[in-house]
Amino acid sequence: MRRSVIIGTGSALPPAIVSNADLCERLDTSDAWIVERTGICERRIAADGVVTSDLALEAAQRALEAAGLTAADIDLVIVATATPDQTFPATATIVQARLGMKQGAAFDIAAVCSGFIYALTVADAMLKVGQANRALVIGAELFSRILDWEDRATAVLFGDGAGAVVLEARAGTERGILASRIHSDGRHNGLLYVDGGPGSTGTVGKVRMKGREVFRHAVQNLAAVMEETLAAAGLETGDIDWVIPHQANARILDSTARKLGLPADKVVMTVAGHANTSAASVPLALDTAVRDGRVKPGDVLLLEAMGGGFTWGAVALRF
Ligand code: UT7
Repeated sequence: MRRSVIIGTGSALPPAIVSNADLCERLDTSDAWIVERTGICERRIAADGVVTSDLALEAAQRALEAAGLTAADIDLVIVATATPDQTFPATATIVQARLGMKQGAAFDIAAVCSGFIYALTVADAMLKVGQANRALVIGAELFSRILDWEDRATAVLFGDGAGAVVLEARAGTERGILASRIHSDGRHNGLLYVDGGPGSTGTVGKVRMKGREVFRHAVQNLAAVMEETLAAAGLETGDIDWVIPHQANARILDSTARKLGLPADKVVMTVAGHANTSAASVPLALDTAVRDGRVKPGDVLLLEAMGGGFTWGAVALRF
């Protein structure tokens, strides 16, 4: 049986750091409120002119380097993003071209903050059936471009960034993706959305969110899908070495861990420095924990995310 094994991770962050104190100069907010309610201390914001494919490309190149491969070895590129460079073509095809690839297939996935979990799930399915052999799976976002900088309820929450993994199909290994589960419930579209284009509305929109409602659903849905995914993989909570969650809010991560009976020190948290980077947050957190030595080969990881749609999902894997 073929399994999809992560053989390299990479990430990219814009250099400019925007602290909570910086935001207090333009919004009626405070460092104390932001830290207490979200755990966020600072976020990275891209300079004018930077596009999502710039960050995606940088993260992809670092993941390839970590895997000891070049773009010539890749036959599938998936970019999860809610902030594509253009309405079309897919940002994945822009990354494919910028990597110098002529082979393989490239496409985007739009599942907002759950995008990377969706993309891993799709890539895993394609690798398992032999439709591809080595995939670059990337989460990349420039949420700063779609924020309403006058709305303190959303402007303080998000940041820019990208993360990537190289997935390789291997037979006869204990490593790799063990199970994944994805869900959506479009009845909740109105709780977290962008009120305009690109696309059929012909307008340019900004992020709108009913935060308290999203919070309530997030804790319920994430705990449920994490349990479902563990059961599908034949694992128990005690088998998990690290949870690599979507970094929306430290309180969501704490509540979800408590619900599952997971010690807080098994949850990788990067929300303080990255804020919510939507589809980029899970691979950014994974790359951080790989590079600082917390995540080691053979560790059992549970990746999870929830976002607009609502969409949510989890992936269990042996690293
Ligand atoms: O990534 C996709 C998934 N997204 C999420 O998971 C986000 C989920 N939601 C959350 O993380 C939280 O709901 C928030 C961090 C967005 C908000 O925290 P909350 O504890 O739910 O606050 P709230 O929205 O209930 O607002 C409480 C108060 C309000 O004032 P009143 O009505 O009590 O007087 C807000 O106006 O806090 C006020 N407030 C702020 N105050 C200072 C809202 N934003 C701010 C702010 N600074 N930036």
